[in-house]
Amino acid sequence: MQFKFLFLLPLVFLLSCQSQKSIQTNSVIIPQPNFQQINDGYFVLSSTTQLVADETFDSSVTFLKQFVEQGSAIRFRKSESNSKIIFQFDETLVTKEGYKLDISKNQITILAKTDAGAFYAVQSLRQLLPEGLENKSFEDNKIYLKALHIEDAPQFAYRGMHLDVGRHFFPVEFIKKYIDRLALLKMNTFHWHLTEDQGWRIEIKKYPKLQEIAAWRDETLLGHYNDMPHQFDSKRYGGFYTQEEVKDIVAYATARHITVIPEIEMPGHSQAAIAAYPHLGCTGENPGVAKLWGVFEDIYCPKEETFAFLEDVLDEVLKLFPSEYIHIGGDEAPKTQWKNCDSCQAIMKKEGLKDEHELQSYFITRMERYLNSKGRQIIGWDEILEGGLAPNATVMSWRGEEGGVAAAKQGHKVIMTPTSHCYFDYYQSDNDSEPLAIGGLLPLEKVYHFNPIPEGLTATEAQFVMGAQGNVWTEYMQNEKQMEYMAFPRAVALSEVLWTSEGNKNYSDFVKRLEHFHKRMGALDIHFANHLYEIKGELLRVKNGSFYQLQPGVSGKKVYFTTDGSEPTSESDKYNNPISINKNIHLKAAVFDENGDRLSAVFEETIKLHKAVGEKIHLSVAPSKVYSGSGAEGLINGIQGSDKRYGDKEWLGFWGDDLEIIIDLGIIQEVKSISTRFFDAPGQWIYAPAKVTIYLLDDYKKILHSEDVGLTDDGKNIKNAEVGFNGIKAKYLQLQIKNYGTILEGAQGAGNKAWLFVDEIFVE
Ligand code: ACM
Ligand code: ZN
Repeated sequence: MQFKFLFLLPLVFLLSCQSQKSIQTNSVIIPQPNFQQINDGYFVLSSTTQLVADETFDSSVTFLKQFVEQGSAIRFRKSESNSKIIFQFDETLVTKEGYKLDISKNQITILAKTDAGAFYAVQSLRQLLPEGLENKSFEDNKIYLKALHIEDAPQFAYRGMHLDVGRHFFPVEFIKKYIDRLALLKMNTFHWHLTEDQGWRIEIKKYPKLQEIAAWRDETLLGHYNDMPHQFDSKRYGGFYTQEEVKDIVAYATARHITVIPEIEMPGHSQAAIAAYPHLGCTGENPGVAKLWGVFEDIYCPKEETFAFLEDVLDEVLKLFPSEYIHIGGDEAPKTQWKNCDSCQAIMKKEGLKDEHELQSYFITRMERYLNSKGRQIIGWDEILEGGLAPNATVMSWRGEEGGVAAAKQGHKVIMTPTSHCYFDYYQSDNDSEPLAIGGLLPLEKVYHFNPIPEGLTATEAQFVMGAQGNVWTEYMQNEKQMEYMAFPRAVALSEVLWTSEGNKNYSDFVKRLEHFHKRMGALDIHFANHLYEIKGELLRVKNGSFYQLQPGVSGKKVYFTTDGSEPTSESDKYNNPISINKNIHLKAAVFDENGDRLSAVFEETIKLHKAVGEKIHLSVAPSKVYSGSGAEGLINGIQGSDKRYGDKEWLGFWGDDLEIIIDLGIIQEVKSISTRFFDAPGQWIYAPAKVTIYLLDDYKKILHSEDVGLTDDGKNIKNAEVGFNGIKAKYLQLQIKNYGTILEGAQGAGNKAWLFVDEIFVE
């Protein structure tokens, strides 16, 4: 399909003859349609308009009728009229989910081959109607719609959002609202993560203790996992969905063309189930329902009793969920207990399995066979590749894109959810005012630029990529507002990744449409995050000087700043050009509107000039691609990283590598002290180094001084390294940093390489 997108003006039409309520909008639809053309004239939607459709389009017609009639005083006319909205079957359309929407003077025509296609046409039309219809605040009885023609179809068949209800439980009404919002964005899959270490959330009638025991934890962790010592809230927490509620939600989703895929985790993340039925584990002991976040060693033992339990559970699950796919988890299952379990070892021997990864593969393959026998297919997280993929499994690639690439190359279907672009539990801004989140950094723009087709696949292999999904893990989302804040607007950006063709995507145009879409999200009472105006800063080095550049997220907005740490107002200095840095400054800046109201969070940066700023630096190994900050130069730009987070531009991350850093001070000069910091967050596999040695060298690189540096702890995930000298003149500084090594048994990520994170190296 060769669609050419036409950027047509103006963005918003105000028809002069009408009140403010009857605003007509164009080029506002999200996700961006693949072809749209604005025509002359307009259609008037009023109580004289007649809805004409056959039964094929039941859900779409019902949706439109309710949307208009419940949101306004307009009632569709039952008798023949000249003003019509017509739903028509069109078998010439190429795709099932595609549609054509034509608005002309007397008629709106929706052409589709399926009810789903017509439903997406209705969602586009909905976004052209006033926002007031969303919350019944529209008071007019006529709506003017600009004439236009849209031809549209999605890029990807799987367009999903996930929700973890294990860590925090969300009520039925909220799940329905979430489904509504996914429908508005033309998403078609809701991945419902129903079982976790911290809570089992689906009623299984044959196993009442899942409701009595597994659905409840004694208390919940306060603050972040990395805050030591761990503190808890002493409040019992939990809940579950009854089977009636599940049926209600599935029906609700179905009416909105959303497939609900349940996830029943196995063999890991099953501590809550094992707390209810300890015989399902290897030790027979009751570990209790988890109250801490993380990965736990109590996992299902692959014995007959366990398979019988899981098959019983799935029998009930299959009755509730008609989806072709059932997600069986498969991620983060430590094999420690299996290694020490006689029953596990006996199965491995009997089945000729060479290690515990093959035992996991045996587990998953057996469950796959069961589900295949019931006419269903499995999806598993990318760990199911380890030890051999079950024959028909679909892989959800989360630890990166590698799992997706490997699975597609083996001819398996793939859904992309890499942490780098799809984990909406990560921070969306590195501003310190952000509410507590798990870590990382995934700004809106990065989501928008995601391409679900990973590099390294041939065109044939790429066809195995069904689409992508945003994941909403809720450890740090205690309530609905916080969940919405994390999911929106990143889900909005993802909808365009999944629906709109690469050639029709354009971030700055998206930002304009999103600014407009804020009104609709507001009317829908979505507690969305707004980082659109947020300022980005960058230190620029030019010959003989440093400058600091500020850039608001939306171009054309006015930025005001101060350099003494005081709060900026619209009376402060207006930013025009990069700020010359010739002394230490505490910069604060914000975007203000015409009325002097602040639109953005306050941007803040402390720049401390020292002897290495802007000099030369060399690293023995490159930082990891995902934690490369602002590059090696960022270690000597006078700016320290965040005290709380390692995902910003100032921290550099290295996975498993020892590191040597050489700084060339340009001329031989007195060095009085060197200091730097290392992040230390074992829960995220990040460890301070095993050893740090500092060398001072003269201009012939002869060692003048060397010293092992002791690290001091500030109690907040940071270890400080600082050494003072008296009166050594040096040209080169060298830091040898030895990685922590392999993560020890019993810790998060045991057996994996540790991460090393370092930030600014101050040289005084
Ligand atoms: C995952 O995030 N553990 C799939
Ligand atoms: Zn076992």
